[in-house]
Formats: sequence, structure tokens, C-alpha cells
Amino acid sequence: MKKIGIMTTGGDCSGLNTAIQRIIRGATLRKWAVYGILDGTDGLCTTPPAAIKLNDLMLPIENARLAGSFLHNGHANALNFETAIERGKTTAFNRKLHKSLTELKLDALILIGGNGSISLAWKNREIYRDLQLICIPKTIDMDIPLTDKTIGFDTAVQQLTSYCDQLMLTARSHHRWFVVQAMGRDCGNLALNAGVAIGASAILIPEIKFDVNALVEHIKKQQTDYGIIIASEGISLRGHSGKPADMISRKLTAAGIVNRTAFPEHTQRAGDTTAADRILATRFADCALQAIENNETNVMTVLTDNEAHTVSLSEFVNAGKIVHDPKIPDLMTSNAYVNPDDPLLEVAHDMGIYIGELK
Ligand code: F6P
Repeated sequence: MKKIGIMTTGGDCSGLNTAIQRIIRGATLRKWAVYGILDGTDGLCTTPPAAIKLNDLMLPIENARLAGSFLHNGHANALNFETAIERGKTTAFNRKLHKSLTELKLDALILIGGNGSISLAWKNREIYRDLQLICIPKTIDMDIPLTDKTIGFDTAVQQLTSYCDQLMLTARSHHRWFVVQAMGRDCGNLALNAGVAIGASAILIPEIKFDVNALVEHIKKQQTDYGIIIASEGISLRGHSGKPADMISRKLTAAGIVNRTAFPEHTQRAGDTTAADRILATRFADCALQAIENNETNVMTVLTDNEAHTVSLSEFVNAGKIVHDPKIPDLMTSNAYVNPDDPLLEVAHDMGIYIGELK
């Protein structure tokens, strides 16, 4: 009988509970013991490690649709990979994680994380040397290389779309524009997809240079006097500082375009998990359990051409663009961005959406 662990790390997103519930179900059917590590790596820093047996505490099926993580994702000021680097405590931290995993006697660990957590897992793979490490990608940013989908993205697009749908009604009543700031870090996938879904008048993403004067002219030329401009949080405007949506808003105001800003913020990480994300979470849970059966380790589940399979973590790291974390220069992550060939860019352009200065 195997003993496996589940850990959710990094920012939460909708779909984590579906993945957890499906892993418990699949593992229990295999007669494996499943332990949930609480609060990500925080749970491995306590003595004894904070882990609960999940088979006994079956996550109710009706809770599998809820956002957030039943296991939690960690405390803000705790020692974790990021703060350990900042505080020069990486060696002691890594040693403690290895010790706790050894104490738990796990055969395998399923780590559900974003590109930061998965990059760190590969970098610090020595921690997991005595067990099988299987990663499942989740993020609303869709910035993970080698996979067509990540858990949480579809729900985030739906959340941002619904938020903008509401704003559109008040925008119309008051003949004004809304500049909505989308999450996504330095990746524009969330802004692009929601922007196309709502029929935004403009979508500004970090991957495509834009000309603010061209944007102003574009808005002035519209046949309506209301609508939505989506500004990804990762864009910048030379000579300006502050929140991207505020910067764009000021430029519009200066040009006589009546507007307001709106910040959906963490509602993009919440919301009942969409069917598409629940299906993806179920497929990745199944794929992860099969990977354990196949004795794989240091792998990540991915979806390509509608097929769920695994890739090695070294492939994942080599496929992405390695960039420094903006806050912690010693921390490098493997990133994916909106591809210049993404058909949605052309579709947006053809639909009269200002998407920047497309080549
Ligand atoms: O990576 C997910 C994400 O929601 C980003 O889109 C956003 O920039 C960031 O996390 C927000 O992080 P926090 O919850 O720490 O404010």
C-alpha cells in the first residue's frame, strides 16, 4: 500500500479543491493512504509536520467546486522558499523539508503549484530525493510552458468576464469608459481571453507594445460612448508610475474621454470552478496518480492536443523563458507568455479591438 501526500503552494485559484478531491478519490480506490500537508511548505516546517489523513476526512463532493484550497496555501510571513532566500536560510529550510518528508514516510508527493513553485521544486529537487515528486500546474496567469492549460485559468477568465459584464451596464448608463486592470503578472493571457470574451474596445498586454496616443484615437473613433479597456497589470507606460489602469485612465481623461478605473483583484482567483477547470483538474489528478503507478518522478502533468501526459521538470525548465522574480533577484522562474502567433491576437484585431502595435 502506497502512502502519498498532497500540497498546494503559491497563490490559490479555483480548481484546487477539485484536484484534491479527485486525488483522494483515485488514491482511495487504489487503497493508498493520502495525506494533505497543510499550508504548503509551512506544514513541513513544523515539528511534527502538519499533515492530515485525507481518506478519513473525504472532501465532500459538493465542496469540490469551491475556490480556494481546503489545505491552505501558506502564511504570508512564514519561512518558505522565497523568504528563505531573502533571509539566507535556504540550506536549513531545505534540510527541514527533507526531514519532514522522511518523517511522513511518503512514497510520493503531488505538488499543485504555479511556475514559481514548480521551478523551485526542480531547483531544490534534492529535498524530494527519497520520494516520487509529481507536479500539477495551476495558475490564473497561464504562464507555464509546455501545457495548453493550467487549473484555474478558465475560471479566472469567467470571473473577469462576468465582472466586466456588470460594469458594461453601468458604463452605458453614464456614457463612460472603464479601464479594468486584469491580473496575470507579466503575462497577458488572462486579459486577452477575457477581453475577447466581453468584446473589449482595447486590450493592453505586456507582450505587445502599445501607443497610448493610438489608443486614445481608437477610443475617440468608436461608435459608442461607453465600453471597456482591459489593462493587464504587467504593462508599463514610459515616464509614468502607479497602477497601470490609473496611468491609462489619466491619459484618457486628459484627452477628454470620461472614464473610471476598476480593479477586480482577487475575485479573479475565486468563483465556483467552471466545468472546464473541473474536467482539467480531474484529468491532471488521474494523470498524476498514473505517474505514481508508473514510478515516475520529477515530472509535471500537462495537456497538449487534448491529451494529458507528463513531461520531466528539466524539460519544463528548459522550455520556458527564465526570468528573475521582480521581488527576489535570486529566484528564477520558467515562464510562458502570449505567443505572437496566438490566433486570438488576430481575431481581436479583426474585431476592431485595439491590441497594441501588432507587427
Ligand atoms: O500569480 C497569481 C496572481 O494572482 C497574479 O496574477 C498576481 O499578480 C499575484 O498572484 C497576486 O499575488 P498576491 O495574492 O500575493 O497579491
